[in-house]
Amino acid sequence: MTTAPTARENAVGTAHTRVEGRDKVTGAARYAGEIPFADLAHGWLVLSTVARGRVRSIDTADVLAMPGVIAVLHHGNAPRVETGYVGLLGVPDPTAAVFQHDRVPHAGWPVALVVAETSEQAREAAEALVVHYEQEPHDVDFTGEHPDAYPVDSHGPAVIEKGDLEAELAASAVVVDAEYTTPEEHHNPMEPHAATARWDGGRLELVDSNQGTFWVASELAKIFSLDPASVRVRSEHVGGGFGSKGVRAHQVAAVMAATELHRPVRVVMTRRQMFSLAGYRSPTRQRLRLGADADGRLRALEHRSLSATSTVHEFIESAAGPARTMYGADAHHTANRLVRLDVPTPTWMRAPGEAPGSFALESAFDELAEKCGLDPIELRARNEPATGPVSGLPFSGRNLIACFREGAGRFGWADRDPRPGLRREGRWLLGTGTAAASFPAGAAPSTAAVTAEADGTFTVRINAADIGTGARTAMTLVAADALRTAPEQVRVHIGDSDLGFAFIAGGSMGTRSWAWAVTIAAEELRARLALGAGIPPEGITVRSDSTEAIGALTQKERHSFGAQFAEVAVDPATGEVRVRRMLGIFAAGRIVNPLTARNQFVGGMTWGISMALHEEAVRDRALGSHYGADLAGYHVAAHADVPAIEADWIDDPDPEDPVGIKGIGEIGIVGAAAAVANAVWHATGVRHRDLPIRPDRVLTAGVHA
Ligand code: MOS
Repeated sequence: MTTAPTARENAVGTAHTRVEGRDKVTGAARYAGEIPFADLAHGWLVLSTVARGRVRSIDTADVLAMPGVIAVLHHGNAPRVETGYVGLLGVPDPTAAVFQHDRVPHAGWPVALVVAETSEQAREAAEALVVHYEQEPHDVDFTGEHPDAYPVDSHGPAVIEKGDLEAELAASAVVVDAEYTTPEEHHNPMEPHAATARWDGGRLELVDSNQGTFWVASELAKIFSLDPASVRVRSEHVGGGFGSKGVRAHQVAAVMAATELHRPVRVVMTRRQMFSLAGYRSPTRQRLRLGADADGRLRALEHRSLSATSTVHEFIESAAGPARTMYGADAHHTANRLVRLDVPTPTWMRAPGEAPGSFALESAFDELAEKCGLDPIELRARNEPATGPVSGLPFSGRNLIACFREGAGRFGWADRDPRPGLRREGRWLLGTGTAAASFPAGAAPSTAAVTAEADGTFTVRINAADIGTGARTAMTLVAADALRTAPEQVRVHIGDSDLGFAFIAGGSMGTRSWAWAVTIAAEELRARLALGAGIPPEGITVRSDSTEAIGALTQKERHSFGAQFAEVAVDPATGEVRVRRMLGIFAAGRIVNPLTARNQFVGGMTWGISMALHEEAVRDRALGSHYGADLAGYHVAAHADVPAIEADWIDDPDPEDPVGIKGIGEIGIVGAAAAVANAVWHATGVRHRDLPIRPDRVLTAGVHA
């Protein structure tokens, strides 16, 4: 067996390239849509062209006569499934239960699956399929105060009201009262959703691209009323998820077709279909009222957010949530409200709640700083809460101001003239802005198995999902440290529901949750090996379940924090905004792999630029569908939009986590859009409260230097 060196370096905290990096750059790593299967048939989804109504009839005969076409599945002939199945959050979510009724709840609802011998034949037939609808009037209009909006939240009470808001506002020396909006935004992972379903020896097998195979397998078991043990889902490499890769229509349709046709069936989404089928971030309208004494101390904080969901499922973008963590006030009111429209069901996307919520809250704070004549960082320092502003619970750690101080030094904040519109460079107006970031730091129960092999190496089995984050590599490093061995001695198996239960790659909780389970098993294994027992040919395996350990955590405010800085240049003649540089400093627990961690922070900040300046899905009111539902019509920040971005962190290990981890998946985007928007104000003297800050908006608003 491997003898551990007495003074070995920790693997955690040192930069490691991805263990599967070579496979990825050489093309050896195969993604869900490109894994070959014998006798594979291809399904193509047909989506409704009307935004509300019923399917009256479908002309399948002509299409069935087309070359290669095998079947057309629709509500009239598809297998019945469980539509009231309970989703991840414990409430029924029938969004993916397709072909169960003739109702059309939104444009882009799947009404049929055409299956053919080749993908091209399936596509041609799907495009030729004529569907007759009974159309009803629809409502996709999110603008304005919607009369049907109601308060609701999935993270706690929808409305939390502490103190007398109006009285505190009236007593305030300075008041900010402003409305902010964010548009409908789409995840757009590089790899489209793809699933292949087949029956193999009485078991349902799905090769998929998702954020958690155990999650998808157990949901499919519920939908198809199967014994969970008879469903296996694999997802080895995933080209991005951002919250969109859970249980969706394509997997359900693929399973239906494989069941009916007794052969493997693959269903892949097109980029355009992803705009209807992959989930998205609801638009938000947010009202902020802040009241402060002349010295900047908050007396009143009100944050009300409205988001939209479908008529199918109640998903809430809880944008008013971050205020409950960030700042205290004598009167503290937060409310999340929802309106149901004839649109697809939104879902978690890139810091759900926090990303749009922080845009409004951190913009309003910048406005308050301006009105108080205070530096924005000083304003935040004066409003640092000792305990959770709403919960009253102690913070597990709150290094927000330390992030600001470190970032201010490195960004050159001290040289900034607070007055807007002063810096010019040729035709460009220059400005800088800052904003705070936070994201919950959680851990969820998971299981793992670690084996000491007879050849001295170790095998780790943890049902993690590597959605491009480097999860496989992170688990290698964590296991190596717990086993006191070198990363090269450790191989890690992930992405297979047969590995057992583990939390999803989501909520910025993946690495911490998986590392916890791996550490428990690895440490116990190391203790056993220390007793000097020989290793039998099959190895020695120790299994773990972190449920008890995580259940023993006391109630605290547990979050990562960060400070975002941006410098922009604005061309007042064209309205163009260029981000020139960005810096993010984070206090986000112990950093497992600095190489991939920096990559994630910079990725999040890039999404922040994208959110601030580019991303916007626009619905045609009359048709109820998008126009420009592709990467030409929906611009995602590209290389030319992204300047030098620097991300770094301060030492912030979580003392109650066995590895010290908090989680870094989403905090990079939080506050990033506000930092850019605040910099645009500093450059131009004009507040932009509606995202994205498009050239036409900059031109229309002008410059008030
Ligand atoms: Mo994330 S939006 O929890 O995948």
